Amino acid sequence: KNIVVLVSGGGTNLQRIIDCIDNGEIPNAKISLVVADRECFGLERAKKHNISVQLIPRGKTFSSELKQFLPENTDLIVLAGFLSILNKEFCESFNGKIINIHPALLPKFGGKGMWGHHVHEAVLVQGEKESGATVHYVTSGIDEGEIILQKSFEISKDESLETLAEKIHTIEYEIFPKAINLVLN
Ligand code: GRF
Repeated sequence: KNIVVLVSGGGTNLQRIIDCIDNGEIPNAKISLVVADRECFGLERAKKHNISVQLIPRGKTFSSELKQFLPENTDLIVLAGFLSILNKEFCESFNGKIINIHPALLPKFGGKGMWGHHVHEAVLVQGEKESGATVHYVTSGIDEGEIILQKSFEISKDESLETLAEKIHTIEYEIFPKAINLVLN
């Protein structure tokens, strides 16, 4: 199966996917391309593993340009810390083939502006009892697609933005490969 991964940042989730393909936790799969919408360390991780990379600057034409760069045999598009919004036409033409990881328990704390530390901040400010991560299908409604996998944990009394982010990343590394296997098979 051929996977295309979209990144905007450090790419530790991308690294986890690369490692899982290498160690057989994600069997019969290959990352055929990594696309970034800005210069980021995720691109360097891909290059280090001899994966083809493409930088498509963020902006109005991103989705249509991405369509042109996608290998024809793409089975799955994985958004791994990707910050641009894919347009409706793109989402519809790859319906059921795009997944995203979100650092909270959707449907809560999703939507526009809800990314990175903004999510963790909102979770803490609202005094939530738990948080977690969600892998979901991508549709044109931001963070609204069907949930594939979700895992939660209890928020501790002395939780900070940093500890929250760290716990969520650990959960992401666990559920993202599982979700990819679920969707591919
Ligand atoms: C993850 O927490 C993901 O949920 C969010 O962005 C972060 C990406 O981290 N959308 P990394 O680039 O994979 O390290």
